[in-house]
This record gives sequence, C-alpha cells and structure tokens, in this order.
Amino acid sequence: MEQILANDIDEVLVTRDDIRAKVEELGALISKDYSDKNLLMVGILRGAFVFLADLIREVHIAMETDFIAISSYGSSTNTSGVVRILKDLDDDIEGRHVLIVEDILDTGLTLNYLVKNLSSRRPASLEVCSFIIKEGKQRVPIMPKYSGFTVPNTFVVGYGLDYAQKYRNIPIIGTLKRSAYEDDGLV
Ligand code: PRP
Repeated sequence: MEQILANDIDEVLVTRDDIRAKVEELGALISKDYSDKNLLMVGILRGAFVFLADLIREVHIAMETDFIAISSYGSSTNTSGVVRILKDLDDDIEGRHVLIVEDILDTGLTLNYLVKNLSSRRPASLEVCSFIIKEGKQRVPIMPKYSGFTVPNTFVVGYGLDYAQKYRNIPIIGTLKRSAYEDDGLV
C-alpha cells in the first residue's frame, strides 16, 4: 500500500521557504566569521546530514567536513542523555576551527557531551550550529553560537529529524498526527 509521509504531518512549524532563507543566512554568517580560518564542519549523524548538506552549499569559503555518529539510549521520543560514539571523526581536530552542526538541541545532553569530548582534542576553536532549538527543554546550559529556529516543546519530524527512523526526508519541520504513531507499537 502506498504511504504518503506528508499525510502524517499535523502542523507545519517550519516551511521549505523558511528553511531555505535561514540556511542562506547561516551560511553567510559562517562564511564571514571563518573567512580566514581552516574551518571543519562536523555533522552529527544521523539527523544533521540533511541540514549539513544544505548548509555547506551556502558557505562560500574553503572548508572541510567530517562526521561523528552517536547514539543515545532511550526511546525514540525521549533522550536518556547516555551517549556512545558509533563512528568517530576521521580527522584529527587539534588546531582546527571546528563547528559542530546539529539538527536539534533538545535536552542539550548530546551537545554537552560532544562539546566536552571534542574540546579535549585541543581544537583551535569549537562552536555549535543547531538548526532547531526546542523551547524550554534544555537540562544543561548550552547556547549554540548559530541557530535557526526555536520550536515549542513538542515532538517534531522532517528535515533530518526522525520518528522511528522515518520522516527524515520530509522537506519541512512539523508535528506528527497521533495516527502516525499510536498504532505502531513503538510508543
Ligand atoms: C537527536 C538529534 C540530536 C539529539 C538531541 O538525535 O539529532 O543529536 O537527539 O537531543 P538532546 O539535546 O536531548 O541530547 P537521535 O539520538 O534521535 O539520533 P539521530 O540523529 O540518529 O536521529
């Protein structure tokens, strides 16, 4: 049976046009701030790959990318804060200007862990760019230097964000209809 993912979206919180404009704006800022620096943009897999792919095409200076894959234990809608590295960076970041690129800042526990972990590798600088910040949800004080949108404290999918590994390919950010998760036995 055909399944149209967009039919599962309840409310669109960030449109395609909003996304495009914000990515351009962030890319311009980053290009200016790192114009004389050896920038390494680090995507946090899996969620950040969509945002990173768009963002690097709006960064108009020489730069490199690397990826780190992490997994947090817990259910798909609730982060436990326990983080393990599934795939580490390929590059040595000592002396590099590192910008961590994340899709969403929720409790902040993932970024808190990553900032501590990557700081210990002696980068020249370390900053964070999170496309989405979930309002009022942070359990640790972490404020990305670059951010896109703040969304209410509700579960969102699309533009890299998943529910049970699905919906990452939806080109907007929105909430899910109850019918999309009520009967699948996962929640
Ligand atoms: C999501 C998201 C962030 C993290 C944010 O990843 O991509 O990495 O949760 O949550 P926090 O601020 O509460 O730590 P997830 O563990 O769902 O994996 P994914 O990137 O593979 O979707």
